[in-house]
Amino acid sequence: MDDEVRTPNEAVPTSADPTPADRRQTDRRQTDRRQAEPTRAARDGARADGVDRRTLLRAASAAGALAVPVPAAPPVAAGRAAAEELPGEVPASSSGPVPGIVKPLPAEWFVPRGTNAETRWDTFRGADGAAVVSRHVPVERFFVRNHTSTPLIDPDTWSLRLFGSGLRGAPTAGSPVEFGLDDLRELPSTRISALIECAGNGRSYYSGQQDQPVPGTPWTLGGVGSASWRGVRLAEVLRAAGLTGAAVDVLPTGLDPDFVAGGTNYGPVRRPLPIAKALDDVLLAYEMNGEPLTPDHGAPARLVVPGWVGIASIKWVGSVEVADHPLYSPWNTDFYRMFGPDYPPGGGDPLTVQVVKSAFELAVGARLAADREHRLHGRSWSGAAAVRRVEVSTDGGRTWRHAELRDEPRADGWTRWSLDWRPGRPGPYELRARATDRRGNTQPERAPFNREGYLFGAVVAHPVTVV
Ligand code: MTE
Repeated sequence: MDDEVRTPNEAVPTSADPTPADRRQTDRRQTDRRQAEPTRAARDGARADGVDRRTLLRAASAAGALAVPVPAAPPVAAGRAAAEELPGEVPASSSGPVPGIVKPLPAEWFVPRGTNAETRWDTFRGADGAAVVSRHVPVERFFVRNHTSTPLIDPDTWSLRLFGSGLRGAPTAGSPVEFGLDDLRELPSTRISALIECAGNGRSYYSGQQDQPVPGTPWTLGGVGSASWRGVRLAEVLRAAGLTGAAVDVLPTGLDPDFVAGGTNYGPVRRPLPIAKALDDVLLAYEMNGEPLTPDHGAPARLVVPGWVGIASIKWVGSVEVADHPLYSPWNTDFYRMFGPDYPPGGGDPLTVQVVKSAFELAVGARLAADREHRLHGRSWSGAAAVRRVEVSTDGGRTWRHAELRDEPRADGWTRWSLDWRPGRPGPYELRARATDRRGNTQPERAPFNREGYLFGAVVAHPVTVV
């Protein structure tokens, strides 16, 4: 059924040990095929230009279409293939601050960033200082990271297609094993807490703090959110589909429009996962914070890959290839690897686990009264383990005090903390927070430079003014 909206993803030929260049070429060949035969979603996307979303939805439901992309920002010009989050131009005619995102994005909650929306940390607290966001970020405040635009998918006709050489009988993309949403709901369900965090979260500090300009979406620290997710373990689905011991990689593919940048069509967003991670703790989620997934966050079903860079958590998943050989896509060859002078020419290993970070629930440049007690609040998190210690400096890193942890440190989310501070003299101050997780990973003074600005885990300077 999904064939109506998406050409099936094809397996990469099983040549022995391809070089990164081979892999890129192989994937480009696939991409070229897709360009020659544009998917229905892509064609609909092209037709959608200038059509308001409601008209589009009406037309789509009349036509019984499965996935309808919301009008997207126009393709962007890329200087290089390896750029991750290329800045999109927002057309003047777009109705919201970010074309392609369905939910409202009030300015007090979000900073628009190209095709994405960054959550504002300062509004985790009300004007009276009381918390308005608890452990899980409400869906309406959760950041959105879209390569293109949110597709609107009919959950009644959607199905997940599994195929490939790692399944019993090696079903092909043309005759896959299929599960509708009801089939998935009949499998044992699980609820987990997990953070989703963009690999580029904090990227703007490479230039802002380290004088190392990098391209891509200039996230501050709001490309992250924690939620409760319910769904079925991917392991369960793979087993029900006939997983064999020969499986090596799985490749979930999204149903959003093809990602086009710099004149290259990279095809639909898709990123291989090693089978060990897929069988460990990955969830195929259909609920977020107790409600069915909303369009922007992957409805009707998405992956949630705990601890790993957000790109692993493929939204709007339409198919999963299960292969008895390594799989490649631009998202594990050209993007989401470390490139630069400190890495091999083909790039470092594909990014997996997120680094440690901390954020204050406070506006940058906040004005605080002198000679008054202030309770500074924040959160720290790590993809590798629970955060067990947070130190805070109110003097630009000269002296540090232990923050009081307000959560039992847990690996499946962030640790909230606070520190009481009574500033004396008025003037500019620089706050800093530095977290350490249970594996001993600590935020460094500087993040290792990489050309795309991934994994910025260094301590962030947070200026405030005491008045
Ligand atoms: N899946 C698809 N199909 N398309 C995308 O653009 N973006 C990825 C991931 N899954 C993406 C996707 C990235 S980079 C991130 S950080 C997370 O989704 C963001 O999830 P969210 O928008 O629900 O916060």
